[in-house]
Amino acid sequence: MVITRRTFLGRSSLLAATLASGKERWLKAMAHAVPTMPVALDVTTLAQFVDPLPIPEIAQSEGQRPSPADPKRNVPFYRIQAQAIATKVHRDLPPTRFWSFGTSTPGPTFEARSGEPLLVEWVNGLPNDHFLPIDHTIHGAEQDKPAVRTVVHLHGAKTGPEGDGYPEDWIVPGKSSLYYYPNQQEAAMLWYHDHALGINRLNVYAGLFGAFFIRDGVEEALPLPKGKYEVPLILCDRFLTREGQLLYLVSPDPKSPWVPEIFGNAILVNGKLFPYLEVEPRRYRFRILNASNARFYHLSFSNDAPFHQIGTDQGLLPAPVPLTEVEIAPGERADLVIDFSEHRGAQLVLMNQAFVVMQFRVAPGKADETSSLPTALRPIPKIPESQAATTRLLTLDEYVNKADNPVLLLLNASHWKYPVTEKPVLGSTEIWSFVNPTDDSHPIHLHLVRFQILDRQPYEPWLFQLKRELHFLGPPKPPDSSEAGWKDTVRANPRTVTRIIVPFEGFTGRYVWHCHILEHEDNEMMRPYEVIAAP
Ligand code: C2O
Ligand code: CU
Ligand code: CU
Repeated sequence: MVITRRTFLGRSSLLAATLASGKERWLKAMAHAVPTMPVALDVTTLAQFVDPLPIPEIAQSEGQRPSPADPKRNVPFYRIQAQAIATKVHRDLPPTRFWSFGTSTPGPTFEARSGEPLLVEWVNGLPNDHFLPIDHTIHGAEQDKPAVRTVVHLHGAKTGPEGDGYPEDWIVPGKSSLYYYPNQQEAAMLWYHDHALGINRLNVYAGLFGAFFIRDGVEEALPLPKGKYEVPLILCDRFLTREGQLLYLVSPDPKSPWVPEIFGNAILVNGKLFPYLEVEPRRYRFRILNASNARFYHLSFSNDAPFHQIGTDQGLLPAPVPLTEVEIAPGERADLVIDFSEHRGAQLVLMNQAFVVMQFRVAPGKADETSSLPTALRPIPKIPESQAATTRLLTLDEYVNKADNPVLLLLNASHWKYPVTEKPVLGSTEIWSFVNPTDDSHPIHLHLVRFQILDRQPYEPWLFQLKRELHFLGPPKPPDSSEAGWKDTVRANPRTVTRIIVPFEGFTGRYVWHCHILEHEDNEMMRPYEVIAAP
């Protein structure tokens, strides 16, 4: 199928300062296409490791409010405002304009306990005009919609539908919404981010996201690194101009500036470019979040230092997995333990393939080691396939124009506005099979639930296209041991059928599932689904 809603220029490479990868053809094409484009920052001219790694502050409650679930009970109340800020991403760059929750991006980190609910009033304190290019041909972002809209979703949370941040539940500047988070779930690193229909990619790119930890007794009973030895590393790439300002690239068509993916020339960690962290020669736990719009990270240390992955999106793995490289798609989290005692006095550089991310300066001498790496972490009973009441075959569809450039992406060939077709029954388990005929890996995320990956199997896309028959080209592959825990986002790889098994628990109501490449999500790679009560 060929759609010519937009026309794009072909590939070209004009920009020297971009981070090369097959997926970055867009950046190059776009840079070529826009004659008035501001000059890109050449990050290779910047001094590395001159800024200490910032740690986002911990969100502080402003007292107690009655719980909407049980008005006799008071729960902590937080008030977080989305606002415009200017902050330095590097010592030698002027302050960058961002939109953030609170005074920094990433916004404040929530520390919550499993079973202890809390309330957040999310305030839209943003200006009335957007500083990034809205595409009014995109669903939900039409001319008649206010330019600046926000709605906050807590990614990975088991939350009622009224507090989940449905993409159409956006509010305009001057308004706020009060969301209730029950936190009835196991310890995990969640994250909150904007989810406004049709401009989500721009709002998140502007800086509207932060971390949200849920703790529990099982995790705390383990001798893992804690306190200052547990550090969040929130990664996002941004395209910076020479003046240090955010640039969101556009297509050559001024009426529809949407681009299928955006990749930056700068990788920020907790909001800084090339930061360093001084560490003691002992174990540290790093909670890594990929908050990028489209970039997949392949992280490793410059000296190939080994580390262990102990957790994934929805918490601890059954056992630590030894690795030298970890892959993290947009939306995914990785929980790592690295032992710096083997690197006393050394400087380790965290790399994303060939590109420098940050530096760890390991002190010489000896440190007090209070942690250890347990051989078993948290049992994860495998859900038997026989438990599934339904299996759904769901396609991931990319539509291209004559120049072979994507112009629209859909799930199951359905637009956002089509009637809801996925209606799992509360308390039931389903298998969702993602059939991906495209050349891209799409990180597919379901709200509300956690799931397990069953397998991935290569198939013949053309035969499926013609006859809707699945012809497999190899045996099913079980998930990597580093993703063999509870997940909420799964990489559905190219020309592969990826199967997940999902218990639908918690609440009935309207939720969404979508690709977490935010450009895809905004251009309709998102669908509602509805958990219904058992008949
Ligand atoms: Cu982070 Cu709807 O997702
Ligand atoms: Cu989510
Ligand atoms: Cu996608």
